[in-house]
Amino acid sequence: MIKQQIIQQFHHPRGLLGRLAGHIMATRRTNVERNRWIAAKLDPAPSTRILEIGHGPGLAIAALWPRLTSGHIDAVEISDLMSRTASRRNRSGVDAGRVKFHIADAQQLPTELDGYDIILGVNVSMFWCDPLATIAHLVDRLNLGGELVIVYMPPPTSDTPAKTMAAKLEALFNQLELTDVHHDTMPFNPPAVAVRGTKHNDHE
Ligand SMILES: C[S@@+](CC[C@H](N)C(=O)[O-])C[C@H]1O[C@@H](n2cnc3c(N)ncnc32)[C@H](O)[C@@H]1O
Repeated sequence: MIKQQIIQQFHHPRGLLGRLAGHIMATRRTNVERNRWIAAKLDPAPSTRILEIGHGPGLAIAALWPRLTSGHIDAVEISDLMSRTASRRNRSGVDAGRVKFHIADAQQLPTELDGYDIILGVNVSMFWCDPLATIAHLVDRLNLGGELVIVYMPPPTSDTPAKTMAAKLEALFNQLELTDVHHDTMPFNPPAVAVRGTKHNDHE
């Protein structure tokens, strides 16, 4: 029962159990490594404009923002608790004007969150009610040539292997006419996948 309640917290961390879920995300080796891995893979140019959705404790942001000199990260969370936690972790990025935190739903972003070179979501896509509509919504916020990157590592409670999820996401990316659709695999146990696709026209 309590285990189930903690698991639910990974969808929307709140209160005491939400703090526990946030602590697990911030310290669990697989999660720390996965976030570092994708930040290293993305290797953004100093001027890159990045949107991260469902950033949780803000590990990827911490690895990404120091690479930016004129670029910027908009960080979006539905959880007020995670937004505060990640903003504490990335205070120097906020103070340097490189990171801004927003409470919003990735499925329905405010209009001002637009014009990104990279949109990143790490272990958040499984919570979307309508993945195709949400991906289309995110693609809409990309610049031409911008890249959508969705990382998935099966949580302990999931029976969807990373490869199966990669195939599903790639089919959606292709349906939306993203190009260069592929996935990178993180050799971990269990493996993680980063599904990637580039926007090359405005008709998605
Ligand atoms: C499993 S956690 C992953 C957190 C982080 N990406 C990481 O890898 O450490 C999922 C996060 O996505 C957030 N989230 C879930 N659905 C969301 C949505 N529709 N929009 C924005 N954030 C969402 C949750 O609040 C939670 O912090």
